[in-house]
Amino acid sequence: MKKTIRDFDLYNKRVIIRCDFNVPISDGVISDDNRIVASLETINYAINNGAKVILMSHLGRVKEEADLIKNDLKPVAIRLEQLLNRRVVFINKTRGKELEMAVNNLKAGEVVLIQNTRYEDLGSKRESGNDLELAKYWASLGDIYINDAFGTSHRAHASNVGIASLLPNGVGFLVEKELEVLENAIKNPQRPFSVVLGGAKVSDKIGVIENLVNIADFILIGGGMAYTFLEALNYQVGKSLVDKENIDFCKKILDNYSSKIILPIDNVVAGKIDDNVETRIVLSEEIGKNDMALDIGPKTVKLFSEYLNKSKMVIWNGPVGYSELKSFSSGTVSLCKILAKLDAVTIVGGGDTAASVINLGYKDKFSHISTGGGATLELLEGKELPGISVINDK
Ligand code: 3PG
Repeated sequence: MKKTIRDFDLYNKRVIIRCDFNVPISDGVISDDNRIVASLETINYAINNGAKVILMSHLGRVKEEADLIKNDLKPVAIRLEQLLNRRVVFINKTRGKELEMAVNNLKAGEVVLIQNTRYEDLGSKRESGNDLELAKYWASLGDIYINDAFGTSHRAHASNVGIASLLPNGVGFLVEKELEVLENAIKNPQRPFSVVLGGAKVSDKIGVIENLVNIADFILIGGGMAYTFLEALNYQVGKSLVDKENIDFCKKILDNYSSKIILPIDNVVAGKIDDNVETRIVLSEEIGKNDMALDIGPKTVKLFSEYLNKSKMVIWNGPVGYSELKSFSSGTVSLCKILAKLDAVTIVGGGDTAASVINLGYKDKFSHISTGGGATLELLEGKELPGISVINDK
């Protein structure tokens, strides 16, 4: 068991909380603030316990000068002020006198947010390269380090692994809950345990399939990746997405676990990816030469629902169609509705899937919606996350 924020006396201590405020922002407007909302419990706990709160986060990736303005954390500071209903002092720097003075002036219960940690990546990758001098500098600003950035835990960067290795540390409530739910799901699954995987590429999910195929009872596959599996079974898939390099991987999985892998039996096809073209529903053995399969069809939805209805636990990662376009979103929407009604533990594995579920209004209908993207996948792959391993056990 990892130490948590509850294991520390926070009063008057400078507490660095590493959050994952990597949220979509366009022209200064945050389009999805779920990660910010998810971090409030830990931040409020620190405030209410009299900590001097120092918040850190990355935002996007900073490779060149032009990335600085695009990835300014200021809009997050403004949103946080609204959500916390208190002042958040935003320091538009990642080091220096202004930052040090702001930290020194903090009183119990006050909050500072430091500019995007990846501003330090410009020139040389000090943040992403876990530069020791940078980690030492940031650690010098705090007395206690709390990792509440689950979505970043698969990275070994200066602002997570670096600082954590230099200060007394623990996890926040968000990380505690993510680990409890996801680790427990893999270690002690309630059965039947089904996994629904979607998304475009097989290559993104190889590790997850390899790990979960041994643990789950059924793996239901939709999305672009399904057509590499169908191709591996010698179906004609027309112009559908096929990940040629991974056909052999799909064959191997189908040979060894044929009864566990459930593939689409019908599909929504079109000539191209466009909301304004004619679509047809065809059986998987009837996909034409010029057809591109872009969503699962109604028979597949019914087939998947039969497996899901008998499941006691379901993990879902990846849309089962090209759900950005309305014409190809019906499979993903139907799946969402089926899962929302299940009498089972339902876990949504982060990224685009989490955004779809929340945007469709089903946020409260799932047992857990992970805030991680890559981190969630790596955990489901059975990998250790460096941002978590570095945190001390109780
Ligand atoms: C995420 O959105 O998955 C995390 O914030 C990590 O971001 P990164 O992939 O840029 O490291």
